[in-house]
Amino acid sequence: MADAEVGDDGYREDPTVNELQAVYAERVGKAAALFVPSGVMANQIALRVLTQPGTIVVAGARQHIVAYELGAAGRNAGIQFDPVDDSDGTIRAADVVRARQAADYHQPTTSLVCVENTHMPAGGVPWSLSALRDVREAAGDLPVHMDGARLFNAEIATGVSAAEFADEATTVMSCLSKGLCAPVGSLLAGPVDFIEAAVIERKRLGGAMRQAGVLAAAGLVALQKMVDRLADDHRRARELAEAVAERWPDGGCVPERVVTNIVLFHSRAPGRVLDHLRSEGVLADSIAPGLIRLMTHHDVDDAGIEQAKRAVAGAPH
Ligand SMILES: Cc1ncc(COP(=O)(O)O)c(C=O)c1O
Repeated sequence: MADAEVGDDGYREDPTVNELQAVYAERVGKAAALFVPSGVMANQIALRVLTQPGTIVVAGARQHIVAYELGAAGRNAGIQFDPVDDSDGTIRAADVVRARQAADYHQPTTSLVCVENTHMPAGGVPWSLSALRDVREAAGDLPVHMDGARLFNAEIATGVSAAEFADEATTVMSCLSKGLCAPVGSLLAGPVDFIEAAVIERKRLGGAMRQAGVLAAAGLVALQKMVDRLADDHRRARELAEAVAERWPDGGCVPERVVTNIVLFHSRAPGRVLDHLRSEGVLADSIAPGLIRLMTHHDVDDAGIEQAKRAVAGAPH
């Protein structure tokens, strides 16, 4: 980062940012990409470019773009979500068809379909390509935006490349700052005209940065050196899930379903469990009432997992 060659990205003259955007566009098989400060901003830009105010966006009810962005979609894009069932991490093609047909019955027109891969609140579950294809087909001529905050976890867990997944969507975003370890930043990719419009929306949202190459340098390390090692996070999350399932057999954690880096379980006393874990040096949080989330990442090694397993074993019920 200290050695990064920089320029003014407001003028799109930062060579390191430009390189990062090109590397990501290639990884996800899109014509162009844009570096933005956060995943939320990437999703919001996609909404602002691909939708019109007063239209419907079909998305899973628990997806980040619906439930975890503080109502930003209404505030920034004036859209209305049709939040459909995503309890297994995917949405049904039939729900997309139903939403589109609703326009014939005085309901708002659908402008966009959003999917999340991997799906965080379902426990980091990756999509299958065939399920994605069904949704894409049901969307017809509507664009599909993929919130791929953890797309590379999906790639490593399934062997399906990020580009193959992204091929089923018009636009895709990924976070560099999660399992990929960069301190900050996300990328949004799609067709050239989409990215040209996205540059304007990024500016409107205050996300245009100047000498951002210092950040993009870390982003290049994220994309080029941090993807393959996600397999270690996935292996460790599975180990942790086994300890969680043993400690709370009724907590709903099924280790075989933990294929990426997220372990979720229900708790009747989440405050006490979180306090205990913290006292044992394990930081975790709830993502919904009574639903605790544990994550593995670069800085949790095998010794760290052993420590977390001991903390789980000794936690209150
Ligand atoms: C699936 C998903 N999408 C988007 C985001 C937003 O990313 P950021 O925190 O960089 O705004 C997150 C963050 O946790 C996420 O899990």
